[in-house]
Amino acid sequence: MSEVDLTTLSLAELERVASERLPPMAWDYYASGADDERTLADNVRAWRERALHYRVLVDVATRDLSTTILGAPVAMPIAVAPTAFHRLAHPDGERATVAAAGDHGALFILSSLSNTPIEDVVAAARGPVWFQLYVYRDRAATEALVRRVEAAGATALVLTVDAPQLGRRERDVRNRFALPADLGVANLAGTGFAVTPGAIAESGLAAYFASLIDPSLSWRDLAWLRGITRLPVIVKGVIRADDARRAIDHGAAGIVVSNHGGRQLDTSPATATVLPAITAAVAGQLEVLVDGGIRRGTDVIKALALGARAVLVGRPVLWGLAAAGRAGAAAALAILRRELDLAMALCGAPSIAAIDRGLLEP
Ligand code: FNR
Ligand code: LAC
Repeated sequence: MSEVDLTTLSLAELERVASERLPPMAWDYYASGADDERTLADNVRAWRERALHYRVLVDVATRDLSTTILGAPVAMPIAVAPTAFHRLAHPDGERATVAAAGDHGALFILSSLSNTPIEDVVAAARGPVWFQLYVYRDRAATEALVRRVEAAGATALVLTVDAPQLGRRERDVRNRFALPADLGVANLAGTGFAVTPGAIAESGLAAYFASLIDPSLSWRDLAWLRGITRLPVIVKGVIRADDARRAIDHGAAGIVVSNHGGRQLDTSPATATVLPAITAAVAGQLEVLVDGGIRRGTDVIKALALGARAVLVGRPVLWGLAAAGRAGAAAALAILRRELDLAMALCGAPSIAAIDRGLLEP
């Protein structure tokens, strides 16, 4: 593949390259959704099914893709979603993906379950880094983690709320998914699950969640978290308008409309279908990000037209990372950027501010 310019591919083609490169256990972990993987498929389909009603004879000679996310300037409204265990895809892991985000002036969100410590990730970054937080049963350890993340220089916390337990990814159960012995959960010493593959009769990650992650987390804990940090808190995993309103009432700085890429509750709705009601209910009181199934520049336009500030992409960055490390992850972002730029030109939208609801409902 080395002679092929990855940026000329589509994300679907990049996915194929990754599927040929990755060992089956890692591929299945990245690719899979919960149960019948209905939501996983619906996420992609729901963006695709919307039509774009382009405007003509608008001067699009220059396009400006830059915007801000929670006040931070970014070169494009496409950010890297928090995904666990990047060193399963490539030895450079999160160092490569954060550098790739920097190559594109994009926001990078580090997972709690990274194979690289937050300090090293911030050191390799050239743009904003947010930290995705899982709340552990051990609140003192969680608080220490928050302290560490603040000291390292992350600029926001993304509290993931759709995973009180891990969804049942049947491929991971079959594979008895486990981390290789040389990889761990870098930000939480002693909480790895580097077990011998096959030593437990289920997904090692599901067992990790069941034993360590706090399933009692409730809206009250948002006040607790805000009380122990000066960082803005973004609530990730909201799919209902009433929960979005609750997030406002509890002082969230933003929300991510997300069903975890179809990995948690199967048959939960595609994010494209719930986004309009949520942005309407929120009415500009906080910023709304969205993820799940964003695979084309036109998908990004549709998300922004429905009121999202920006989109996050999860799997496509992992495909790029698996294909060619930093250059591959950067290629995934370059593909989406190129497609968004062209789609803006063809829509008659020379700036992010020009992307409005009228493009979906003339
Ligand atoms: C995830 N996601 C995720 N979310 C989170 O809050 N913390 C995490 O550690 C992870 N880990 C993770 C691993 C893998 C392999 C995937 C595919 C996803 C969910 C992620 O942030 C995001 O919501 C989805 O990936 C978005 O969907 P797409 O872009 O993958 O379709
Ligand atoms: C996942 C967890 C780690 O989706 O969020 O695999």
